[in-house]
Amino acid sequence: MSMTEQRSTSALLYLSGVTVSFDGFKALNNLSLLVEPGEMRAIIGPNGAGKTTMMDVVTGKTRPDEGEVVFDGKADLTKLDEADIATLGIGRKFQKPTVFENHTVRDNLLLALAGLRSWYKLLLAAPTKAENNRLDEILSIIRMEPQQHMLAARLSHGQKQWLEIGMLLAQDPKLLLVDEPVAGMTDVETETTAQVLREINKTHSVVVVEHDMSFVRALGVKVTVLHEGSMLAEGTLDQVSADPRVVEVYLGR
Ligand SMILES: Nc1ncnc2c1ncn2[C@@H]1O[C@H](COP(=O)(O)OP(=O)(O)OP(=O)(O)O)[C@@H](O)[C@H]1O
Ligand SMILES: [Mg+2]
Repeated sequence: MSMTEQRSTSALLYLSGVTVSFDGFKALNNLSLLVEPGEMRAIIGPNGAGKTTMMDVVTGKTRPDEGEVVFDGKADLTKLDEADIATLGIGRKFQKPTVFENHTVRDNLLLALAGLRSWYKLLLAAPTKAENNRLDEILSIIRMEPQQHMLAARLSHGQKQWLEIGMLLAQDPKLLLVDEPVAGMTDVETETTAQVLREINKTHSVVVVEHDMSFVRALGVKVTVLHEGSMLAEGTLDQVSADPRVVEVYLGR
């Protein structure tokens, strides 16, 4: 087995030489990225760097023109569709919350836990003991026990984001992809979101894209800087912030 094969099989997520072109413009340009099992990775980079496109490639929404994308050491994600990739255990939270407004927080989590196809059954049968225990756990992780019986429509923007993170967690993916979770949040909500993701990272691997540097600092994890579709720098937030090339792309905006 070559060194490259060893790296791709021990990683949870392995991207190598990934290129995505839109009418000749390279949104991703020979991007390589490796996330270890159990890791939480923060991805930063200026607008248009390719962060969301990277998540689109991992979830099968966008097919790369070139490159390898391997999940859990075996699945070639470039050959699978979005539904298959979700089934493998990659869950994604988009920026805009998509909770069910006319249901309570707890019922939203129950629907996510049981799978949306079971909606009809859920209306007829009470949750099991195991389901209720898991709901209590998730409510505790997202810090929403006090709001569990509120209609989702009445939640603040930040609370809706946490509920959606909880709904993602309910599906128990091996890897959670979270794109700009703290956009539009207050400073206090941002700090809480960092704590929630750190708690989730005790049991799940996470890749989180964010512009908010105080949030990234609070995560305290390895940071990857994307720029023009490629990896520009990687390391602690202090290391990458001190990298002249990173300073250049942020100041040069
Ligand atoms: N479907 C598409 N068709 C054409 N161009 C696209 C498409 N999707 C993304 N792009 C372009 O690819 C580049 C990377 O976009 P992407 O959304 O991945 O950046 P990003 O790093 O997530 O930026 P932001 O921080 O603003 O969310 C941008 O220049 C964008 O305009
Ligand atoms: Mg984006």
